[in-house]
Amino acid sequence: MTASPILDVRHVSKRFDGLLANDDVSVSVARGELLGLIGPNGAGKSTLFNMIAGAFPVTSGEIWLDGTDITAVAGTRRCAHGIARTFQVPRSFDTMSVLENVMVGSFMRTASASTARIRALETLEYVGIAGRAQAPAVDLTPPEKRRLEMARALATEPKLLLLDEVMTGLTPAEAKAGVDLIRRVRERGVTIIMVEHVMEIVMPLVDRAVVLHLGKVLAEGKPSEVVRDERVIKAYLGDRHRAA
Ligand SMILES: Nc1ncnc2c1ncn2[C@@H]1O[C@H](COP(=O)(O)OP(=O)(O)OP(=O)(O)O)[C@@H](O)[C@H]1O
Ligand SMILES: [Mg+2]
Repeated sequence: MTASPILDVRHVSKRFDGLLANDDVSVSVARGELLGLIGPNGAGKSTLFNMIAGAFPVTSGEIWLDGTDITAVAGTRRCAHGIARTFQVPRSFDTMSVLENVMVGSFMRTASASTARIRALETLEYVGIAGRAQAPAVDLTPPEKRRLEMARALATEPKLLLLDEVMTGLTPAEAKAGVDLIRRVRERGVTIIMVEHVMEIVMPLVDRAVVLHLGKVLAEGKPSEVVRDERVIKAYLGDRHRAA
């Protein structure tokens, strides 16, 4: 890890009409870090992801990636800058094959269809669904769809990967495989921010956790510190985690 953060979110706010969904959020992420972004429903986690990925503009504040101010960079260009994301509700091009879906990601780094195809196949192998390459994306099971999202994101060769609740709806065995996959991705040097509600999954996995509540950063620190923070227990975790 170097001293300069790969991502620096500076005093970012997002207003939807009367609602301040992000309120002066500042988060800095070190190169190679695996950061957990947690907090209650409606806290503003996906909203923050949407602004980092450029799906919609900030109301105020700045977003810096690798020393460059990308606040004004269009969402369609952020991928070229090295940001990839998965969606809370998986999105695929249903009529296209699994392979073609991942090739959409590969085309970010190559104009050659044969190269895109080779890289997409390698990525499908990496996430463990190469056997489904020719299937229409619509035919995938929910856990396979999560892997397809991951493959499409990885095929863009990101520096920063935003994972929005990729474990939701998975059985414990599938979630364990998902954790293994996230570990392997971070070992390749990809910086990851993951939003996840299942504390038993996210806390052992991440280096650091940031807690959002009502659009603001409520707490941040090592997972072991954050789960003991009285404000976090009161706002989000509840008493069962105090006992644990
Ligand atoms: N496009 C939008 N237009 C209007 N309001 C929005 C929009 N997106 C999010 N919001 C509102 O902003 C607030 C934060 O939503 P967000 O989806 O960021 O929460 P979240 O922390 O991801 O919650 P969850 O854990 O349920 O996914 C909510 O009140 C939500 O209704
Ligand atoms: Mg969300």
